[in-house]
Amino acid sequence: MAPNRRTAVARAGTNIALVKYWGKRDDKLNLPRTGSLSLTLAGLETVTSVSVDPGLQHDHFELDGHIERGVPLGRVGRFLAIVRERAGAAGQFSRVVSRNSFPTAAGLASSASGFAALACAASAAYGLDLSPEQLSALARRGSGSAARSIFGGFVEMDPGVLPEGDDAVAHELVPPAGWNLRLVVAVTTEAAKDVSSSTGMAATEETSPLYEAWVASHGIDLEEARLAVVGRDLQVLGAVMERNCLGMHACMMAARPPLLYWNEATLAALREVWNLRARGVPVWFTIDAGPHVKALCRVEEAAAVKTALDKVPGVARTIVAAPGDGVRLESVG
Ligand code: DP6
Repeated sequence: MAPNRRTAVARAGTNIALVKYWGKRDDKLNLPRTGSLSLTLAGLETVTSVSVDPGLQHDHFELDGHIERGVPLGRVGRFLAIVRERAGAAGQFSRVVSRNSFPTAAGLASSASGFAALACAASAAYGLDLSPEQLSALARRGSGSAARSIFGGFVEMDPGVLPEGDDAVAHELVPPAGWNLRLVVAVTTEAAKDVSSSTGMAATEETSPLYEAWVASHGIDLEEARLAVVGRDLQVLGAVMERNCLGMHACMMAARPPLLYWNEATLAALREVWNLRARGVPVWFTIDAGPHVKALCRVEEAAAVKTALDKVPGVARTIVAAPGDGVRLESVG
């Protein structure tokens, strides 16, 4: 039985996939169709506290000072129900207070850091003692990309083969200090996106004739990217990350109805990355299910890449992020 009135606080950094996850082999267990490879970022973090309170009749969720209801509360409540079932704590609801160090609506993968921090804080608050792999599998139930934020630096997510998904977990490839690259994020709008990742990937899987071709080429992308990360080969990693990302967006554009997350500034920023490369600057981009462009480069070139992207019409601001640590339990008691 979970102890009464226990509070735990956890911190997690967001991560950006360099080889993407897009599509599920099981919707209920949130099992990915393919593996993925990501970089966990420092400074773009979620801090979450979970307080088990026997006086509550249902879960409460506060995000960045706003009381959340409807879809966000439902998602957090369903996740906490999984934790309660494992802990044998049925009916013991929680107060969840979460804060992002970056605007939630800006589409910088807040569900990744959010569910990684929630998995860590909630499992501690309900008295579960989980290994990092078990935490990764748990975080995945909240959001597929969250499984990767349990670990720091360069991380690979395994799609697993088991029906229950216990082997669909992430692991660290290279720790944050192991390859000191920078990801320059060009924020092209502050508005929230219209189509969530979950909805967008389901529509792509169901209706895009290009989707199976992307999945078929994905294994090679993942293997080449893994070898490039382990060998610290930015040239190869960059080439794979761009082609994998553009393939994913091509699948979405071919869906029926078409799904296009880009705006004018997305295309302009993408072209600027190519211009920089044509001028000899080693930099490559990726784009998630949103309009922002994320450029990967060495520390030496980060300032020049930032300056160039800041000048692109429509880019609201840029953020330079370093590799960051995995999830951390800050306090429990
Ligand atoms: C394009 O992890 O947000 O960022 O599992 O449905 O919550 P759910 O999806 P989510 O999807 C991330 C999609 C992506 C690629 C990636 O992060 O691998």
